Amino acid sequence: MFEDVSMKDKKVLITAGASGLGLEMARVFVAAGSDVFICDVSEDALLAARKELPQIHVAVADVSDEAGVKALFQQVQEAFGGLDVLINNAGIAGPTGYVETLSRADWDRTLAVNITGQFLCAQQAIPMLKSSKAGVMINMSSAAGHLGFAGRSAYSASKWAVVGFTKTLAIELGRYGVRVNAILPGAVEGPRIRAVIAAKAQAMDKPAEALALSYEQQASLGRMVSARDIANMALFTASDAAGSVHGQALVVDGHTQALV
Ligand SMILES: NC(=O)c1ccc[n+]([C@@H]2O[C@H](COP(=O)([O-])OP(=O)(O)OC[C@H]3O[C@@H](n4cnc5c(N)ncnc54)[C@H](O)[C@@H]3O)[C@@H](O)[C@H]2O)c1
Repeated sequence: MFEDVSMKDKKVLITAGASGLGLEMARVFVAAGSDVFICDVSEDALLAARKELPQIHVAVADVSDEAGVKALFQQVQEAFGGLDVLINNAGIAGPTGYVETLSRADWDRTLAVNITGQFLCAQQAIPMLKSSKAGVMINMSSAAGHLGFAGRSAYSASKWAVVGFTKTLAIELGRYGVRVNAILPGAVEGPRIRAVIAAKAQAMDKPAEALALSYEQQASLGRMVSARDIANMALFTASDAAGSVHGQALVVDGHTQALV
């Protein structure tokens, strides 16, 4: 039944929830009746998010900082007394350029946020999710987590890692009734993708407008996806309606077969 998509009173933590896809997910889960906690590195963005959604809990945390992640989960435990859904959403675009031009520091930072951050949050969340009646973890990957992406090797490598991490956790946690899935968005219309396109146009010495058009045309639907498309997939995946969806790399990209 579609009614199973209700997430009433579910305790949901969304990392990097103060803007972009994380904030859209916070809106959708609040509308579905969930108790929502978001963290972010930007205090200003958290304050703005709480102005829009006064019922949510917020905390400043960098997912790549182990001590900060531990403190975050203590705050979640104090606020909620448990956790039903972890959405490992935090991820950075990383450096743009061909492999031989990249710095070690940029490579390390991308992996630290995009995959080690998910590992650190998962470690803290797993005992709480096991105690939940319907524990769910959703790890944000990307279309670059199942396709190659020229000029974005650090990002792509980190997002493929998210899929391996997800499938392994699914085996480890399935027997406890904890479902783990990855969502792989295609290019999402919004300011982040515009910045990514501008950086790539500069690195590849291509006109930004032509590159933006290629981003739209790379999907069979001929357009980018919306933040709401991704939030809706997260809501469905977290709900009992997706009760047998486990260990999957769920692609929401308008059918993209190659990344420009
Ligand atoms: N937007 C897209 O086109 C797209 C496509 C595919 C996948 N994704 C993935 O979806 C997720 C969200 O993307 P987005 O476009 O909403 O991101 P975004 O760039 O809009 O950033 C969202 C938030 O992340 C926060 N943040 C950055 N580093 C952080 C850290 N170390 N710890 C905690 N918070 C941090 C920022 O302050 C910001 O508020 C990411 O994992 C991204 O890789 C996005």
